[in-house]
Amino acid sequence: MRYDLIFITTALLCLLVGESLGIWMGVAHDFTFAPVHAHLNLLGWVTLAAYGLMHRAYPALGASRLAGPQCALAVLSSVAMPSGIAYAMLTQNPIVAIVAALGVFAATAAFMIMFVRKARLAV
Ligand code: HEM
Repeated sequence: MRYDLIFITTALLCLLVGESLGIWMGVAHDFTFAPVHAHLNLLGWVTLAAYGLMHRAYPALGASRLAGPQCALAVLSSVAMPSGIAYAMLTQNPIVAIVAALGVFAATAAFMIMFVRKARLAV
């Protein structure tokens, strides 16, 4: 599976949406959703692109049994987190953001395990 392409394509889509929201905030002079914009850009674009580039730099990561679940969890929770923040701001209910944050953390922990087990030894 080309995890690098999955991560970088998703990251670029998040950047397009995040930048669109940023342009809208600037035009409308309404910065209410700045935390949504920030998490789309930093979790969606920066973090997912970093995972993609690390898969390019350390191809051994793709051989891990955790690679598929980690990719799915990272992509889903990085999209769910900004959505959950927007939902929390609109409804005062933070449950989606809380679950997404735990997903983001679990994906990071899984990537750490993959890195220690596979990539570190392959270089
Ligand atoms: C077309 C590109 C972009 C535009 C038009 C844009 C616009 C904005 C605007 C209008 C704000 C709110 C400023 C305020 O509250 O006074 C903001 C905040 C922010 N932006 Fe962007 N931005 C862009 C790209 C990015 C990118 C690529 C990143 C990160 C990789 C980023 C990260 C942030 C962060 C961290 C904040 C602060 C959020 C907060 O205070 O809660 N932005 N941006």
